[in-house]
Amino acid sequence: MTKAAELFNLSGKVALVTGASSGLGQQFARALADNGAAVALVARRADRLADFSAALMKSGAKTLAVQADVTDRAAMLEAFDTVEKALGTVTILVNNAGIAHGGRAVELTPEDWRKMLSTNLDSVFFWAQEAARRMLAANKKGAIINIASVLGLMVAKGGASYATAKAGVIQLTKALAVELAFKGVRVNAIVPGWFVTEMNDDYLNSEKGAAIKREIPMGRFGNPGDLDGALLLLASDAGAYITGATIVADGGQVIQIKG
Ligand SMILES: NC(=O)c1ccc[n+]([C@@H]2O[C@H](COP(=O)([O-])OP(=O)(O)OC[C@H]3O[C@@H](n4cnc5c(N)ncnc54)[C@H](OP(=O)(O)O)[C@@H]3O)[C@@H](O)[C@H]2O)c1
Repeated sequence: MTKAAELFNLSGKVALVTGASSGLGQQFARALADNGAAVALVARRADRLADFSAALMKSGAKTLAVQADVTDRAAMLEAFDTVEKALGTVTILVNNAGIAHGGRAVELTPEDWRKMLSTNLDSVFFWAQEAARRMLAANKKGAIINIASVLGLMVAKGGASYATAKAGVIQLTKALAVELAFKGVRVNAIVPGWFVTEMNDDYLNSEKGAAIKREIPMGRFGNPGDLDGALLLLASDAGAYITGATIVADGGQVIQIKG
């Protein structure tokens, strides 16, 4: 008989989570560590990573804080080398780092546009590519999980660059999945609805946020931990035959037509 806990067990796996200094990334890292993975924590704010890493280690986890800007190719290669040396080949990559930017399309500068696409789409591709290259070289199976957004499926005014990047993440996920499936590397996406984090707390705690919340069929924003199930399914053997999928966890937001 297969036990659920065994199916989701990540003992002996090495995970790398980008954007692990805050918000969803910290929750993803904690969920992976709680289920047995050694977890490399990547972001720019080294102090945050060090504190978080220490907190995880206190609860028995094996972690490594690695400072890197996801848009910096040299830093990316160095990060993978460091993690590989300390923990082994990364076989679970969570491509989570991201930025938000609001602004009407007619007002976006070329710099705004490039920064968004570079952080939220280009880096997702290059980190996935590097992780896959290393898994193939080591002849290891693995899982790449890209964090998209409901704004990759639908649009809202003021979100042209973010929505375009996140829609790209969903297509990229499928494109990588078909190329890597035969080698045992699965590539999937999680589409979160609204979660209050540093990225959006001003916005979601405003009147506008209250209006958004009223439109969510479950009547609430996401809670920490609401994405753990989707993450662990995609990261573990529980999701062994799932690739190219997009799991939406949004309290029912995107399936609804207003009326
Ligand atoms: N919160 C939501 O409602 C929501 C909904 C849908 C999708 N998402 C997606 O979920 C992901 C996490 O967002 P969050 O809500 O947790 O936001 P957050 O709390 O602002 O966290 C963003 C993380 O990304 C990191 N990051 C940003 N730019 C980076 C760069 N150039 N290099 C390395 N790390 C970088 C930040 O770390 P440093 O600043 O330390 O580098 C931080 O750890 C994002 O991809 C976001 O688009 C969030």
